Amino acid sequence: MRVLLFLASLGLVAAENGLDGWLRYAPLPCSQQCKSKLPANIVALNATETSPVYVAGTELQQGLESIYGTKTGVSHDKCKSSSSSVVVGTLEQYRKTCGAVKDIPDLEEDGFWIDTRNNRIRILGSNEKSVLYGTFEYLSMLAQGNFSEVAYATNPVAPIRWVNQWDNMDGSIERGYGGPSIFFKNGAIVDDLTRVKQYARLLASVRVNAVVINNVNANATLLTPTNIKGLARVADVFRPYGIQVGVSLNFASPQTFGGLDTYDPLDASVINWWSNITDQIYDEVPDMAGYLIKASSEGQPGPETYNRTLADGANLFAHALEPHGGIVMFRAFVYNQLNESNWDADRANAAVNFFKELDGKFEENVVVQIKYGPIDFQVREPASPLFANLLNTSTAIELQVTQEYLGQQSHLLYLPPLWKGIFDFDLRVDEKPSLVRDVYSGKRFNRKLGGSTAVVNVGTNTTWLGSHLAMSNLYAYGRLAWDPTDDSEGMLQDWIRLTFGLDKTVLNAITKMSMESWPAYENYSGNLGIQTLTDILYTHFGPNPASQDNNGWGQWTRADHTSIGMDRTVSNGTGFSGQYPSEVASVYENIETTPDNLLLWFHHVDYTHRLHSGKTVIQHFYDAHYDGADTAQTFLTQWESLKSKIDKERYEHVLRRFEYQAGHSIVWRDAIVDFYHNLSGIADTSKRVDHHPWRIEAESMYLDGYETYTVSPFETASGAIAIVTSSNDTVGTATTKIKFPSGTYDLAVNYYDLYGGQSQWKVYLNNKKVGEWIGNAEDYLSHTPSIYLDGHSATRINFRDIKVKKGDTLKIVGTPDGVEPAPLDYISLLPKGIVD
Ligand SMILES: *[C@@H]1O[C@H](CO)[C@@H](O)[C@H](O)[C@H]1NC(C)=O
Ligand SMILES: *[C@@H]1O[C@H](CO)[C@@H](O)[C@H](O)[C@H]1NC(C)=O
Ligand SMILES: *[C@@H]1O[C@H](CO)[C@@H](O)[C@H](O)[C@H]1NC(C)=O
Ligand SMILES: *[C@@H]1O[C@H](CO)[C@@H](O)[C@H](O)[C@H]1NC(C)=O
Ligand SMILES: *[C@@H]1O[C@H](CO)[C@@H](O)[C@H](O)[C@H]1NC(C)=O
Ligand SMILES: *[C@@H]1O[C@H](CO)[C@@H](O)[C@H](O)[C@H]1NC(C)=O
Ligand SMILES: *[C@@H]1O[C@H](CO)[C@@H](O)[C@H](O)[C@H]1NC(C)=O
Ligand SMILES: *[C@@H]1O[C@H](CO)[C@@H](O)[C@H](O)[C@H]1NC(C)=O
Ligand SMILES: *[C@@H]1O[C@H](CO)[C@@H](O)[C@H](O)[C@H]1NC(C)=O
Ligand SMILES: *[C@@H]1O[C@H](CO)[C@@H](O)[C@H](O)[C@H]1NC(C)=O
Ligand SMILES: *[C@@H]1O[C@H](CO)[C@@H](O)[C@H](O)[C@H]1NC(C)=O
Ligand SMILES: *[C@@H]1O[C@H](CO)[C@@H](O)[C@H](O)[C@H]1NC(C)=O
Repeated sequence: MRVLLFLASLGLVAAENGLDGWLRYAPLPCSQQCKSKLPANIVALNATETSPVYVAGTELQQGLESIYGTKTGVSHDKCKSSSSSVVVGTLEQYRKTCGAVKDIPDLEEDGFWIDTRNNRIRILGSNEKSVLYGTFEYLSMLAQGNFSEVAYATNPVAPIRWVNQWDNMDGSIERGYGGPSIFFKNGAIVDDLTRVKQYARLLASVRVNAVVINNVNANATLLTPTNIKGLARVADVFRPYGIQVGVSLNFASPQTFGGLDTYDPLDASVINWWSNITDQIYDEVPDMAGYLIKASSEGQPGPETYNRTLADGANLFAHALEPHGGIVMFRAFVYNQLNESNWDADRANAAVNFFKELDGKFEENVVVQIKYGPIDFQVREPASPLFANLLNTSTAIELQVTQEYLGQQSHLLYLPPLWKGIFDFDLRVDEKPSLVRDVYSGKRFNRKLGGSTAVVNVGTNTTWLGSHLAMSNLYAYGRLAWDPTDDSEGMLQDWIRLTFGLDKTVLNAITKMSMESWPAYENYSGNLGIQTLTDILYTHFGPNPASQDNNGWGQWTRADHTSIGMDRTVSNGTGFSGQYPSEVASVYENIETTPDNLLLWFHHVDYTHRLHSGKTVIQHFYDAHYDGADTAQTFLTQWESLKSKIDKERYEHVLRRFEYQAGHSIVWRDAIVDFYHNLSGIADTSKRVDHHPWRIEAESMYLDGYETYTVSPFETASGAIAIVTSSNDTVGTATTKIKFPSGTYDLAVNYYDLYGGQSQWKVYLNNKKVGEWIGNAEDYLSHTPSIYLDGHSATRINFRDIKVKKGDTLKIVGTPDGVEPAPLDYISLLPKGIVD
């Protein structure tokens, strides 16, 4: 166990690069009173180094030392009678070693008891991993300077508290924004599993109990003997943290990898093949959690190839896993391409259409894994109606910590308020309370299995997710998987104190911006239930509303010159609302009772339709986009106000993201309002849209070496036109005379930062350089970069307090690089207090 101690201590002294996440155990400025709370010794009631109880002892020792600066001894055998010991162990072992315990309520599987009264700390678990959970809970209190005496038991709401990695075996990660995989490289498991161990520690601290390590779009070569041995090495690293591993499988493996001539789930040779593979895996990983299956979905092979049902497909794996106690997580994300010409075609209908008739046909160890909404991780969706249609099937909810459609960790978006809106939704099955969280936890329909899973996609970046602030989502995910009633703001504040310390100003600022982040993002992306309005055909990052329509993917908006929205009513639309139990269906069926924030999800209306708020749809779009982008500007200024209170490394990292977000929120704002203004021809009553008095279009400047370029989609350039250098070895200059009154301005420049080149730009006023930058966002931002001038690459940089005189000459010199032709869109000179 030398290795473990060494690594743990390395983590503790490391720079603030994010590696320790919320487990930093920063030293507390410790008064006498707090010193008196330092336990004199630690007893961890298991001497086996791979035991989670042993790990709990080590974690305690490290944590206490880091917080108090004093090393405390750990023993494993005897129950110390000293009044200030901390004893951690299973309830059973405690009874054997220390004697009877009174007043402890019954603990469920994975539950624990924590008692810190009278300086006699006891953390007792129903099993070994829950001892570790309780230990992290205790350390979390201390690290927050919380010395209150507590005695309580806590139990999880559900047994499944998993994370999914979408890691490919070549080391890339689908929808991963924190660097390459910590698990795979070159088709195999990596040799050095240091990061896997650090990840295990973070996950265990929030009580996640299994990790599916490879992409749901699975590669069958995971099943080579070498890779199964690699999986076993990974499992060995996770096991001391009480975490099991699982794998995603490719349905066609018997044919593509096993050499059979079929993968028909009812074929005897296929059944044998999967049993054999499963036995091989359990030989190496005796406690493997199970399989995650994406079948007959988005081009993945599945049982439908052989006219078999999805239940036949799921049960194939269930039978192979059953002797070993493993479970099948079978994804409900099954849909076909559709034709938008059919008014009643609707992808949102697919999951219920495929799965409802199979209810009761799945084996007991199958869990249907359901995305929170019926489409795909959009900024706002109603709860998936499938939760109300599977009464005899175990279910789990699928969330995304990775921000696929939600700013890709380059925008701040604290997700629990979004998730909890789904968890707390009452589906009214049989006219009885049927909260989504009570369905997936198994409580509502008396299912033994059930729970949560989240796509996490951490990478090798020391920030894990690509952004320090995004880690609040991983932390809160674990907390909510344990207890979905946990409070969004309370969890957030625990995370802030653990991550950034106890300063109240820091606490308040990060709380405010995090709690505003989802409403702000929804405001400047897609409103009223129309979905995120990102580019669904390319990177899922920047704006491109037209990409939603006129293709078979079914994420449609049905926007035309007069009207917008999906008519999902039974009476005249796709019938989707009828997939909900009657009480809910009648709310959504009726435009009067549909909440504004889901209006366009359920109804197709004119832009001039009045919302309950009294505004028209189109005016709400305009107002929300301006308000959302305004909110994003405040994130930057709030963060800047914390400069002296946050270490430089993390301050600068987050600062760059907020600078970027402040600019990109304006890109979003303008793209969406211009798009719908263009489509509808309806003016903004506040006269902001298409009215930018402080803008100078690059194409209106005197150009030398630059030429105009028509940007597509048009709304991602101001006036649809940008400029680019005439070749990739021509330096371009764009010059203009300032016509604005003399004064002090902020100078904003909108440009495009493409993948595949790092252009340089320099801005001069009367030949004096006032700003310069490089187009290297692909190196420091997490989102998927673009090779085009579009809403993903559109970027804004801001130079503050530039003194300008009327008649001054403003010149920008752009030096292209690679495929990036130093593109420019426009310049704004903004008087104090104006952001446009
Ligand atoms: C100690 O831990 C090992 C490894 O987890 C486990 O097999 C063993 O049962 C534990 N012993 C006790 C007494 O709990
Ligand atoms: C201290 O922690 C306990 C247990 O989590 C909690 O109930 C209590 O509210 C916390 N006290 C403060 C002041 O945060
Ligand atoms: C699966 O992995 C193998 C080995 O790394 C690789 O050669 C192959 O291209 C991968 N297949 C797919 C579909 O990614
Ligand atoms: C799997 O099949 C192979 C080849 O048929 C055989 O050698 C091996 O013993 C089987 N393994 C298990 C665990 O059944
Ligand atoms: C598929 O199965 C269904 C029901 O089992 C049957 O009615 C149908 O004819 C089958 N189709 C084909 C192409 O085999
Ligand atoms: C969609 O349906 C329309 C009308 O039925 C038809 O004209 C068109 O070809 C179809 N498009 C596709 C891609 O099938
Ligand atoms: C489904 O559940 C209902 C209510 O619990 C029960 O009456 C019915 O027999 C079950 N059906 C199947 C196919 O399991
Ligand atoms: C009913 O649906 C048709 C398309 O089939 C659509 O054109 C019409 O506007 C809808 N009517 C109402 C009242 O929503
Ligand atoms: C979002 O937009 C609405 C409507 O314009 C506004 O009332 C609200 O304050 C905005 N919220 C944020 C956080 O931007
Ligand atoms: C919409 O954009 C097109 C192409 O850029 C343009 O021809 C048209 O005039 C615009 N319409 C409105 C109402 O702005
Ligand atoms: C982490 O990512 C940032 C950009 O997001 C990059 O600057 C840094 O080099 C990366 N660090 C590591 C260790 O990958
Ligand atoms: C210009 O682009 C070509 C083709 O993409 C490339 O081969 C060349 O290296 C580029 N030149 C510069 C100066 O970046």
